Amino acid sequence: MTPTIIDTDPGIDDALALLFAWGSPELEVEALTTVAGNVPLALATVNAWRVRELCRPAPAPVIAEGAAAPLRRPLRTAADYHGQDGLGDIGGWPETPERVASGQAVDVMIDAARRHRRRLVLIAIGPLTNVALALERDAEALRAIGRLVIMGGAVDVPGNVTPDAEFNIHVDPDAARRVFEAGLPIDLVPLDATRQAILRREELSEALARTPGPVAERIAAFTAFGFRERGADGTTGLTLHDPLAVGVAADPTLATWDRVRLIIGADGETRRRAGAPNCRVAVGLDRARFVQRFLERLCPRSA
Ligand code: RIB
Ligand code: CA
Repeated sequence: MTPTIIDTDPGIDDALALLFAWGSPELEVEALTTVAGNVPLALATVNAWRVRELCRPAPAPVIAEGAAAPLRRPLRTAADYHGQDGLGDIGGWPETPERVASGQAVDVMIDAARRHRRRLVLIAIGPLTNVALALERDAEALRAIGRLVIMGGAVDVPGNVTPDAEFNIHVDPDAARRVFEAGLPIDLVPLDATRQAILRREELSEALARTPGPVAERIAAFTAFGFRERGADGTTGLTLHDPLAVGVAADPTLATWDRVRLIIGADGETRRRAGAPNCRVAVGLDRARFVQRFLERLCPRSA
């Protein structure tokens, strides 16, 4: 099993990514680090706790809280896409305890990087503020990890918050620029790939019907809000942005990759440039194999 840390701003697709990670035997998720993005930090941390409580993975990953705002620009959230509470505004979650987080995100990231070095996979599925702050503290430790899998960017396709920028990179372009210039082993999963992974409502319903129970009911409820994207084939679906980052962290062969040099624009654009590559970019996807594996692993065996 690969020691794994997931940096997240839960969000509906983040929640699915966490459940998918806990159902993936290749990954041993030892920590969730939270960052402001889809929702303000405090809510991102509570939502990470809610999803962990829903699935009760063993061993339970620690939850460590990170940055409440981007490095320089004001926070922009995505309540219109994820609901005011970030998980589809369904309510009915367990009462949140006084203390949910047990540590600071940057401390946890650097400690894991120093302990695991080449074995560690860090999956970043929110704005890159925490990763940039960890770089500031100990760049050598971060450069020694195995892979940094980032959901973000729009390389050869339009953005989803501006014509050229994707949300995670747009929210904190200063952090993203530091991360892409630091010589890290980046595997980028941009909209170019995630838009090939739009889950149809009936695909999810059929899978959840195979594992009836409280977990499946909560998944059906909190995802309902997210089924609003129109796929190329005209169906409505939920784009599996963050789950795809987890999928390729566990099995890179699900995607095809280009080695690319990217620079980060002032508003979070991710542009190709000539020169030495600074990342691998997922460009193609075996959708059938990915969606089947995602659905098989989504509802934990213990549920
Ligand atoms: O653009 C998609 C990304 O932005 C995903 O990580 C989603 O959760 C939002 O954070
Ligand atoms: Ca996210």
